[in-house]
Amino acid sequence: MRILSGIQPTGRLHIGNYFGMMEPAIRLQDEGEAFYFIADYHSLTSVADPAVLRENVFNVAVDFLACGLDPAKAVFFKQSGVPEVTELSWILSTVTPMGLLERCHSYKDKTARGMEASHGLFAYPVLMAADILIYDSNIVPVGDDQKQHLEVTRDIAMKLNHRYGDVLTIPEARIREDKAKVPGLDGQKMSKSYKNIIEIFGEEKPLRKRIMGIETDSTPLEAPKNPEGSIIVDLYRLFATPDEVAAMEADYRAGGIGYGEFKKRLFEAYWGYFAPMRAKREELLAAPENVEEVLAAGALRARELASRTLARVRAAVGL
Ligand code: ADP
Ligand code: TRP
Repeated sequence: MRILSGIQPTGRLHIGNYFGMMEPAIRLQDEGEAFYFIADYHSLTSVADPAVLRENVFNVAVDFLACGLDPAKAVFFKQSGVPEVTELSWILSTVTPMGLLERCHSYKDKTARGMEASHGLFAYPVLMAADILIYDSNIVPVGDDQKQHLEVTRDIAMKLNHRYGDVLTIPEARIREDKAKVPGLDGQKMSKSYKNIIEIFGEEKPLRKRIMGIETDSTPLEAPKNPEGSIIVDLYRLFATPDEVAAMEADYRAGGIGYGEFKKRLFEAYWGYFAPMRAKREELLAAPENVEEVLAAGALRARELASRTLARVRAAVGL
């Protein structure tokens, strides 16, 4: 079984990225042949500063390794380390119906939020399909918001297979049932572009302040409170044991405890959860050249597999 996933280096990683994609991907590295990459070609649609792009790529690499990606088990690389993927993307684009891309939410959402309506942004799902198909991937662990892109990938692969025979492996999305849609501090989906994130790694003080700043209603301290739909409880659930969650829910209902206390509990649970990974991150930062080496070695291995698939596709289509 081959497992593949990618993440864009568009900013600091947040706990939505962690629970939606990184943690499942890290678990899967023990179950098959895993390929994980940093989607730097994709992020050219939104990051215009080369220095920022390089810094983001490095940070994503360090954070992913700190969270438990093991380069002895998974092949870890930069998307641009395998330029073959852009050639496959072109070939796929010739069998991709315009209507398929026109229906994609992410293009509409991103342009509605003011991102430049470039061809790259529009064709983004085709490059993503190439990322997946070039490694003959079977399973793609992603958060809920990438579901449509996986459907598009399958459609494109079937279209090419229909025209040229059985050339491409049809992949499947692996979307976890819990935690696939982590809410942000404002209750909307947590996303870098909504400024509602809790970073995985960051300074303690500002992060504590962000969590203590979660908006709550004006129920007085003594009064019973409703845990249903409370963003504090929903976030706490990500880090706490079921017993701890039940205790917080009971304390909500009992009254006599203010939201400030619940936020403190949330912060402690969050901070403790990532403590071992923070320590690992410090180690990695002490020898940044090792991180670069991991990515370079990963690209070599990924490239080998990608060239084989590309050769097969080129032959099938008559190039
Ligand atoms: P963002 O929306 O912050 O820009 P990305 O689009 O870069 O995040 O997502 C990277 C990965 O993290 C994808 O697999 C995506 O599905 C997952 N992901 C992002 N936000 C969330 C969230 N709030 N809950 C669960 N998974 C998420
Ligand atoms: N589009 C994904 C995101 O924004 C990143 C990505 C690019 C990806 N190529 C991929 C994810 C291939 C899984 C498989 O999060």
